[in-house]
Amino acid sequence: MTSEIFSLAKYLAASRSEFSLSEMNQYLSRKYEEKELFDILKMHFFDLGLYCSPDLKCSKLVKRALPADESVVTELEGLLKEPVLPLRIEKLLSSYIERTCGKNWNTGDTARLIRENIISQKEEYWKGEGGSGYPKIRIVSYLLYHFPVYFCQYQYLLLELFKGGLLFNKMRIIDAGSGPGTITLSTVDFFRKLQDVYSRNNMDGKLSIRIESIEKELENILCYEELSKNYMSGGSANIIIGEPVRSSIETAPVPHDADLIVFSNVLAELKSTPPERANVVERIASGSRDPTLIIIEPADLDNSKALRVTQQTLVRKGFNVYSPCSFIWGKMCSGDNCWSFKEQGNITAPDFMKKIADTTDSYRYMNTDMKFSSVILRKRGSSKHNYRAKGKFMALSNLKKHIEKHINVATSVMSGNLGNEKTLVFKICDGTVREPCYAIMPVYHMSENNRELMKADYGDIVEIFGVLVRENKEQASFNLLVTRNTIVRITGV
Ligand SMILES: C[S@@+](CC[C@H](N)C(=O)[O-])C[C@H]1O[C@@H](n2cnc3c(N)ncnc32)[C@H](O)[C@@H]1O
Repeated sequence: MTSEIFSLAKYLAASRSEFSLSEMNQYLSRKYEEKELFDILKMHFFDLGLYCSPDLKCSKLVKRALPADESVVTELEGLLKEPVLPLRIEKLLSSYIERTCGKNWNTGDTARLIRENIISQKEEYWKGEGGSGYPKIRIVSYLLYHFPVYFCQYQYLLLELFKGGLLFNKMRIIDAGSGPGTITLSTVDFFRKLQDVYSRNNMDGKLSIRIESIEKELENILCYEELSKNYMSGGSANIIIGEPVRSSIETAPVPHDADLIVFSNVLAELKSTPPERANVVERIASGSRDPTLIIIEPADLDNSKALRVTQQTLVRKGFNVYSPCSFIWGKMCSGDNCWSFKEQGNITAPDFMKKIADTTDSYRYMNTDMKFSSVILRKRGSSKHNYRAKGKFMALSNLKKHIEKHINVATSVMSGNLGNEKTLVFKICDGTVREPCYAIMPVYHMSENNRELMKADYGDIVEIFGVLVRENKEQASFNLLVTRNTIVRITGV
């Protein structure tokens, strides 16, 4: 019977621009309530290319980039300005923690066990080890300590894609190494926020999003299913979550026609070397024509550097960096020796985090700063910045020949302030140099000429005129001293 309904829906979707579910009864061998039809079909709306409104009118959805009008972007940016776990997600996680560890999870032996786990989990991450999976207490520790920051930081990458026209009204999204569902739930929350903004602006917010996941640990999948089922209950059918695939990403069935594939904090857990991880990513992306890939890793030295090696191996395989790197001189870097990460500020700690941190050495259990290394890759074309340097600038690979001279450079800003309030230090890169380079600006040299350096966002390209080259032999790096006469301009290209 279901196949009759499905075939009819397929036929109607192909032959009409709009139909109501109740209309289907004219052609079926028995009558159904609209709600029944809805429940039978809802997991298929995406494949049928249908959008079904709350009043159960279905229309065909033609894939297009989601409109990113200035008013929408401004409103969305406003919503992400003070990052915090949405209350509904916080409650969901709290009840999972209570169900798993009891109402008094934050006291006595249970709390002690959780705190020990939080500490050991952190040590494993810094060593790039995945440990032996996450039995229940490990999942709870993960939810308490890592989930909130990872959930929030990822939404800034979605915002970047949105602003760049890389989010569509119809998308298949793959959450690879999904753990308890951080990325999946964050994606749903982001699209729900976006739909609200569209509706407030009287704009067409019709969406059909399907999220699929791959995860190797059963316990994580069970948690993923529980959290996502509870989160989705009562929601519309225009964002759906598929059955998780239990597998290693090295051997999982290759997803077909994905628009976005996210590897959040998973590649560092693979036993393989950073270049070999690129093969895993390439294989997962191989079934998709034009996907966007997001890879996120922790910001520490080892994991961050490993990510750039994986990234550049993917570039050599034909992928294109959308952001944060710009290859200003048209040359590809090796990806070696590059430590660069984004600092996005702090989230407000959820109550459950405050509870587990309510002990001596409280800071060990608080995790609120969003610091992460990431890359957005595209299988085809398009970079965020298409700027190319011309003759009047010098490539950073030539700095050695110009020590103690004033020069002009065009470069990306690849860090926030790494110095202090008196001396601002920004990592810079133009894709030509292996040694780390920094723009150094003593605050007493700040002037109308050079103030824009402080305003540059992570990955923005700046033109710097009249900057003094210095070598730091001890650190094997170069410093470009920005003085009050140095001119800095953000290019905006
Ligand atoms: C640090 S958690 C990240 C979870 C989630 N993506 C996030 O950002 O919060 C890493 C997850 O990747 C899973 N994982 C590790 N190696 C994997 C592999 N080879 N294949 C699939 N999943 C893997 C782990 O079981 C764990 O759930």
